[in-house]
Amino acid sequence: MGRIETQLNTPAGEFTLLRYPQRNNEILRAWDAADEYLLNYLSEEISGKPRILIINDNFGALAVGLNAVKPIVQTDSFLSFQGIRHNLQHNKIDTQSVTLLNSMQPLEGLFDVVVIKLPKSHAYLEDILCKITAHINSDTKIIAGAMAKNIHSSTLKLFEKIIGKTTTSLAKKKARLIFSNFTNNKIVSSPYPQCFEIETDNTTLKICNEANVFSREKLDIGTRFFLENMPDSNRFENIIDLGCGNGLLGIIAAQQNTDAKLSFSDESYMAVASAKENFKAAFGQQRKANFLVTDCLQDMANGSADLILCNPPFHQNHVVGDHIAWQMFNEAHVALKQGGEFWIVGNHHLAYHTKLKKIFGGYTVAASNKKFAVMFARMG
Ligand SMILES: C[S@@+](CC[C@H](N)C(=O)[O-])C[C@H]1O[C@@H](n2cnc3c(N)ncnc32)[C@H](O)[C@@H]1O
Repeated sequence: MGRIETQLNTPAGEFTLLRYPQRNNEILRAWDAADEYLLNYLSEEISGKPRILIINDNFGALAVGLNAVKPIVQTDSFLSFQGIRHNLQHNKIDTQSVTLLNSMQPLEGLFDVVVIKLPKSHAYLEDILCKITAHINSDTKIIAGAMAKNIHSSTLKLFEKIIGKTTTSLAKKKARLIFSNFTNNKIVSSPYPQCFEIETDNTTLKICNEANVFSREKLDIGTRFFLENMPDSNRFENIIDLGCGNGLLGIIAAQQNTDAKLSFSDESYMAVASAKENFKAAFGQQRKANFLVTDCLQDMANGSADLILCNPPFHQNHVVGDHIAWQMFNEAHVALKQGGEFWIVGNHHLAYHTKLKKIFGGYTVAASNKKFAVMFARMG
């Protein structure tokens, strides 16, 4: 297989663009045809120095290509945040020329142009559209880009409902643009976070989720099966909820291990913010925990945990694959102390047991049903 293309040609020049984290034998480019379409369109349609907001740029194609107009760039993904920063530095662009915001940081002021790389989640798109209504007027150009297969009639209806008159471009290299005008002229507040309740052994927990959190509307069936088959209580001191989403796995582990120190990690800013709120709602201010927006276990000390819980992701944005599961399993192996346990849940067809066997040398099935297995591997 040839080397993956890294040179992005834009109207503003040629840039080198890499995905983050960088992997050996990467098979995917750091941008897609929708990024190219957006950059070409914007160079023709936009003049002067407009105030531009870019939302959900993947690895910086848009931020790098539009750096001359000093855009404000907002993302919910730690990996995107780092990717954008790395690619600016790599192309010797002053990182100060781009203002990077995470999804939990508020927007400020009025924008002349809002560029949205369509997110995978409809709820996150809804949240984005609602939140920009306080920062646009009828002159603001709102342009979204995506691969055509990811633009549905429900996507366009959402733009119409929240922003106003909406049209689409012709497809180019299977990508399409969405143009929306703020004809509704009404500030709409975001309906997120949204909450649901679950019954545990001794309490009812209220779990609230920001818009881009996994299984935002109800308890995921894999997570439910995991909760029904958690490791025995009160024998762990340092517990990590890896890829924590709304933090439910870690919260239940904290209930069952009354003196344990908990750490929650996720690459989504909204996930970690939700986990933090949910932990506080469950235990009050007294019980402390660590909340980390990071790539897997990047900031955890080696050999420090005695239990890691994980319901691994099987996609990153629109890209499906097991590369993050591999990374999580390998990093869990490093973060566990001797005798520590790595507990996971997975759909049978994902065959996570082969990874556990390869990395830990063995595994035990704690429970299994038609769809899922809860398995664990022990260090040492
Ligand atoms: C299947 S969800 C599980 C969420 C939660 N633990 C649950 O069971 O409801 C996987 C989670 O992994 C997170 N994730 C994806 N890539 C990650 C990475 N590189 N580092 C940390 N977390 C990641 C996702 O944001 C998502 O919240």
